Amino acid sequence: MSNRKTADRLIEAIEASGRHYRDSLPMIASENILSPLVRRACDSDLHGRYAEGLPRRRYYQGCDDFDTIEEIGIESAKRVFNCRFANIQSTSGTNSNIGALKSLAKPGDKITAVSTADGGHISHARMGAVGLRGLDLVTYPWDEERMEPDIDAAADLIRNEEPSVALFGQSVFLFPTPLEELSQAAHEVGAKVMYDAAHVLGLVAGGKFQDPLREGADVMTGSSHKTFPGPQGGFVLSDSDDEKLHRRLNSGIFPGVCSSYHLHHVAGKTVALSEFEEFGSSYAHDTVENARSLGEALSSEGFDVLAEERGFTASHQVVTRHGGIDSGAGRDAAATLEEAGIITNMNMLPGDTKALSPSGLRLGTPELTRVGMGTDEMQDVARLFARVLLEGEEPSSVKNSVREFKSQFQTVQYCFEPGPAYPGL
Ligand SMILES: Cc1ncc(COP(=O)(O)O)c(C=O)c1O
Repeated sequence: MSNRKTADRLIEAIEASGRHYRDSLPMIASENILSPLVRRACDSDLHGRYAEGLPRRRYYQGCDDFDTIEEIGIESAKRVFNCRFANIQSTSGTNSNIGALKSLAKPGDKITAVSTADGGHISHARMGAVGLRGLDLVTYPWDEERMEPDIDAAADLIRNEEPSVALFGQSVFLFPTPLEELSQAAHEVGAKVMYDAAHVLGLVAGGKFQDPLREGADVMTGSSHKTFPGPQGGFVLSDSDDEKLHRRLNSGIFPGVCSSYHLHHVAGKTVALSEFEEFGSSYAHDTVENARSLGEALSSEGFDVLAEERGFTASHQVVTRHGGIDSGAGRDAAATLEEAGIITNMNMLPGDTKALSPSGLRLGTPELTRVGMGTDEMQDVARLFARVLLEGEEPSSVKNSVREFKSQFQTVQYCFEPGPAYPGL
């Protein structure tokens, strides 16, 4: 194939991916879509530019306008996340974690975190950022009923292990972490408390989950593209007034993990922050309400939804179990759902040991909410799940219903200029 044909084929595949999502129910809990104004910021000349350092203290010429953008963004982030310090440069949640861990601990230090089997993220594991920094990992005892660290046992563990960093937060994140109790234990032994809000950052900022920086977290990291509906990237935040810590956190990102740092995405984040100040609280509210409704509706349809006793969820996620431990039934369910145009991901649940054949599915409401679906539509979504997975209807026939249903939800909301959710197709 000629190079030109390859390029054409690639453009076609990119557009096909867009159409796939446009016509589907995208329910990956870590995903979201951009508002038209944020998209404009990301698709700007800034894409090709360089800046290193902090505003007004650069290693490159040409940064004056970008300095203004980053300064406005930092101030907006401090308001949105209600904190004294914000770094908006990180290119992802993982980078935020590596940078923050570089600032808070040195190789060989001990860290406590949630295990990946219990919903912790790979960057909290030896195979990820924690291992990359050479940290000695100890994981918290887990309360499977409550889907959170076992408070007393985890506090004891922190007191006994005396880590440098007590890290909290998960990828399967249904309920707020009991942070006040656990931060107290961490601070008693001189540990810094780091809260990874990658998934729940928009809910935290919208006042609808928990308030980690008031509950004991010294540092909060997060992604800028999950429940916080901006472009791909990250944040590092702190309410500490310790300027030495601020300097360490800044240098953890640059030069720690970034040289230039994707200026178009930083610009997109700044626009997303402005939109969040206006619409974030209602977006966070509606996202959580939708998740609760979805949990209830799926349970009424006959699905095994985790944490029924706690109301299924207090976040943007719902988790369902589809078979015995390590049965692979979660993987199979995700594949069948995609044939019907419903995009989800398989997930390990407590007890599962094999990441590629888990029993669970993790579902998220951020994108469905952002295109205007409400609690009534969550009943419709649960019905579609039931048709495919419980009633054995042909996925291809359900796919037609999905496409027709989704065609009514094509405008991105909670932003200054609502517009096409899947533009240019
Ligand atoms: C808890 C947690 N931390 C960090 C990350 C990584 O974020 P990113 O994909 O922005 O690197 C994730 C991703 O899903 C996550 O769930």
